[in-house]
Amino acid sequence: MSVLLACDFDTSDWAQWRPALLQALPGERLVEADDGEVDVAIVANPSAGALAGLPRLRLVQSLWAGVERLLADPALPPGVPVARMVDPAMNAAMAETALWAVLSLHRGSFRYARLQREGRWSPHAQRRADETTVAVLGLGQMGRTAALRIAAQGYRVLGWSARPQALDGVETHAGDATLDGVLAQADVVVNLLPLTPATHRLFDAARLARMKPRAGFVNLARGAHVVEADLLAALDAGHLRQAVLDVFATEPLPPGHPFWSHPRVVVLPHAAAQTDPRSAARVVADNLRALRDGRPLAHLVDRARGY
Ligand code: NAP
Ligand code: GLV
Repeated sequence: MSVLLACDFDTSDWAQWRPALLQALPGERLVEADDGEVDVAIVANPSAGALAGLPRLRLVQSLWAGVERLLADPALPPGVPVARMVDPAMNAAMAETALWAVLSLHRGSFRYARLQREGRWSPHAQRRADETTVAVLGLGQMGRTAALRIAAQGYRVLGWSARPQALDGVETHAGDATLDGVLAQADVVVNLLPLTPATHRLFDAARLARMKPRAGFVNLARGAHVVEADLLAALDAGHLRQAVLDVFATEPLPPGHPFWSHPRVVVLPHAAAQTDPRSAARVVADNLRALRDGRPLAHLVDRARGY
């Protein structure tokens, strides 16, 4: 098969991806420009229009878990299946980041780091994990793994999804009507939703106001889930205690953006769960083999739902 690599990688990314893909896809013809025979496009934030005019295209395989940018490209051929990255190694990395954020908020680590910088010795009251409620929004690949990992540490975990789900040790809720009730109970909210028309700017002033006073907000999904000015206002007003943000409306976060220096914001550089070329290339290879053998493709995106 002829496999087009439409990825916005820089040289150091390619240095990792090229050998991993070559090893996982022996015998496939990997091309970086349309050779008129492309069967499969492997994409990572492809530039708009990159998938136009590929008459033989049978699969678009994303190296990213989130596919909102890909789906928004009018040049994405309508009938071609789109598969996204689903890799247990990535789920585990996300669960680690989510657990780190929850533990840090629960144990007051960010506050203690501030006090150290100020040379102040000021212990605060200690709270038990089972007295701390964590809401995980999105119970898909990432959310489910994170919710289970957090629950295993003794936290009370509420999970929220579009459709009803059952998860051992997690109190699950589904649908728009239940969101405010979930947020009102949570000491920490972890956002792991996909970015879709239904979740775009979900966290605006009205929604943030419904969160429990002094809650922590952890956004590991997409920057456009949040109205950044409204989040800053909620932090400045003291309604929210702390935000841990891995994703932003504009990435990289522009110099001088108020999040960089805000005392109640921790900034990560979109690094909560990076795709690991070693395991991800095998995920891609499995799907290409399924395509070749006429077996069902894995991890297909529901274009109508947007994830
Ligand atoms: P996923 O498996 O597709 O799961 C999405 C979850 O969100 C599902 O549980 C779904 O509910 C729920 N959901 C979607 N729309 C909803 C709505 N309107 N109301 C309530 N629940 C809704 O996605 P994933 O693999 O876990 O990834 C989630 C997101 O994480 C990605 O889209 C990406 O943006 C982000 N991400 C970030 C990083 C990073 O490094 N920061 C890395 C990877 C991914 P149902 O189960 O009912 O369908
Ligand atoms: C990273 O953010 C991804 O969607 O894979």
